[in-house]
Amino acid sequence: MSLLICLSNRLQILLLQHPCALTAMILRFFYVVDVLSYSIVTPQKFLGKRQQLLGQNFAALGRIIIGEYSLAAKFIAEPQQREPYIGRFRCIPNRFSKHFLLFLSDKEVKGDNAHSKARSAILNVVFKPAFDNTESPEAKDLLDQLATIAHTHGNPPDLDEISDDIQRTVIQYIMLVLLEAKPSPHQISSLKTLFFSSKPRESLLISKVKPLAPSAKRLKEVERLEEIALNLIENSPVVSRYKPTNEHDLSRTELSTLLLQAIAIAGCLGSESLLRSLLTKVPHDLEIDVDNRLEVLRVVLETARRHSPVNNINIITQTETEVTINDRKRKFPKGTLFSANIGLANLDDTVFKNPLDFNPHRDNLLAALSFNSVGEAKRRECPGRSIAEKMGSDLLVALRCKTVKSH
Ligand code: HEM
Repeated sequence: MSLLICLSNRLQILLLQHPCALTAMILRFFYVVDVLSYSIVTPQKFLGKRQQLLGQNFAALGRIIIGEYSLAAKFIAEPQQREPYIGRFRCIPNRFSKHFLLFLSDKEVKGDNAHSKARSAILNVVFKPAFDNTESPEAKDLLDQLATIAHTHGNPPDLDEISDDIQRTVIQYIMLVLLEAKPSPHQISSLKTLFFSSKPRESLLISKVKPLAPSAKRLKEVERLEEIALNLIENSPVVSRYKPTNEHDLSRTELSTLLLQAIAIAGCLGSESLLRSLLTKVPHDLEIDVDNRLEVLRVVLETARRHSPVNNINIITQTETEVTINDRKRKFPKGTLFSANIGLANLDDTVFKNPLDFNPHRDNLLAALSFNSVGEAKRRECPGRSIAEKMGSDLLVALRCKTVKSH
């Protein structure tokens, strides 16, 4: 196995160094093999095995994966050229909203103002007002109920048994806080299938990525579920109040489609992963002063650093780039597909001392790249960051209160 991984790395390096139609075709073959293995063995195992054999940077998934903190942080901070990639996946662009943020390049590099316009629309209409909603009793109740369920399933809880509850909580919380919407049980079940199913014919994400996406004729079920979700979003209190202006000229339907894809892919999948880690990976002997919000937030941030919910940020390089792979320097031409890998960079021991230790008191915790920003460079920082941090903090507090009461 190790030999095959090293061989695949060497071949993909060679192909990426010599871009042409033929090498692009062969790289697609490597993408298919790697993406299937990445999904079957889990991202942590796929990336960890390569890191162990080849170091922080390597070739996989038909691209160069950068796990070296300094280079990943540089890519995240700079203006970015994007193409239709999400995380590990190559996407079918016409199955996405044309305003889908992750595919839009920055103005400085091959883009126009489409990214900043769409980002500004969702920030102003949805995200800015949302933080106050995290304080509502309904939002707190949702997390409190999840903490109660988790508490009755062991310490740490058995994730297989509470997976359904985590997914329902994430959906209800995000719909409530971002859109002030309260989906019916039937709508929640439909959204759960659409966002979290691993079946290509019913998953919003997998129905739009290669190589698993069904043909256009076989999209009926996913289209039916998307209609239910769109209807909920378009008629939510927040979107109903939206009126297009000169500055934000997306129609209400365009905004709703963009929001559906952003909430499903960026919002719910990332948040589910964060909550799962908070429920099971925070050492239970770690003392937390639940009245100290900063201390609680540090635990959430350390959890996100140690078990990054989002990994690959895909960008096209603007200059020839030199990368050290397996102790050798390799040059890649301008235009190569790179993934700044947050999960690996957050565990780079040149930046985070004893990276595998869970230590919320580390002094450079804010240097972690978990929400796609570094220092003051926040052009593509996750707009859901403050909501996700609040959701995680409130769940942690609810959980700790249950544990204290039962002792
Ligand atoms: C309330 C839940 C969340 C919502 C609504 C949300 C929404 C979004 C949106 C709309 C984007 C695209 C921004 C852009 O391209 O300008 C984004 C990007 C991102 N989000 Fe979140 N997010 C949420 C939770 C999370 C969590 C829990 C994490 C991980 C700790 C996370 C990490 C990221 C990262 C790394 C990106 C950059 C992706 C890329 O550029 O390829 N998000 N998020």
